[in-house]
Amino acid sequence: ISTIDCFYYTIIKNKFKGGTMEEKRIAAKRAVDYVHDGMIVGLGTGTTAYWAIKKLALKVHEGLNIKAIATSIQSEELARKLGISLISFSDIDEIDITIDGADEVDYNFNLIKGGGGALLREKIVAAASKQLVIVVDQSKLVNRLGLFPLPVEIVKFGHEVTMKNLSKLQCKAKLRMKNEKVFVTDNGNYIVDCHFDSIENPKELHNKINLIPGVVDNGLFVDMADKVIVGYQNGEVKEL
Ligand code: 5RP
Repeated sequence: ISTIDCFYYTIIKNKFKGGTMEEKRIAAKRAVDYVHDGMIVGLGTGTTAYWAIKKLALKVHEGLNIKAIATSIQSEELARKLGISLISFSDIDEIDITIDGADEVDYNFNLIKGGGGALLREKIVAAASKQLVIVVDQSKLVNRLGLFPLPVEIVKFGHEVTMKNLSKLQCKAKLRMKNEKVFVTDNGNYIVDCHFDSIENPKELHNKINLIPGVVDNGLFVDMADKVIVGYQNGEVKEL
């Protein structure tokens, strides 16, 4: 882990919660073993995905031939800086593998994502991927989703009424702020963090939320993850 890693990681860490840098790094490193020559790779967003991008870049410099699509401007800039070739959706039909983090993962592989505000692009990339590999530190594993506030991306127009409608689903809906300004996503939308505390039926809630006019998408990823790789404090890595 270099000084530059620590510097970059400290900047982006403020936006994300979770376990230690090492737990995230070892999970991400294992996931990169599934990337092979000639693959189109989806690059996730966040501190865990950061390590996957770094490891991929190392392999690219050693000769691995891949093309990548990023789930955020932040990851795209990092990939470009590290020399990973980027490709756009107009050039491909599908993505071979995507490696991304998550805010919560249950034992049925349902996820909450969007802590970094990138849920929409993350879901588009995940849905276009043959394989979605989720990399997390052990703190992200839960029996039931919902303690982490569910991020919902909504359009700016009428956001007040969209938020009222979200509250009717028995959650406390809070507009996400950053540096005392309303947080704006890479897509020019707002994020509402919905505090449910406990989510009984992720699929049902996912569908209910997405039916509200003004909602673009929400951070519940149901039936999408193919593999979850977990990094533990003792250095162990488990593949679920
Ligand atoms: C960003 C995400 C991230 O994958 C999620 O927030 C986990 O981040 P980290 O790996 O930094 O803990 O969904 O929108």
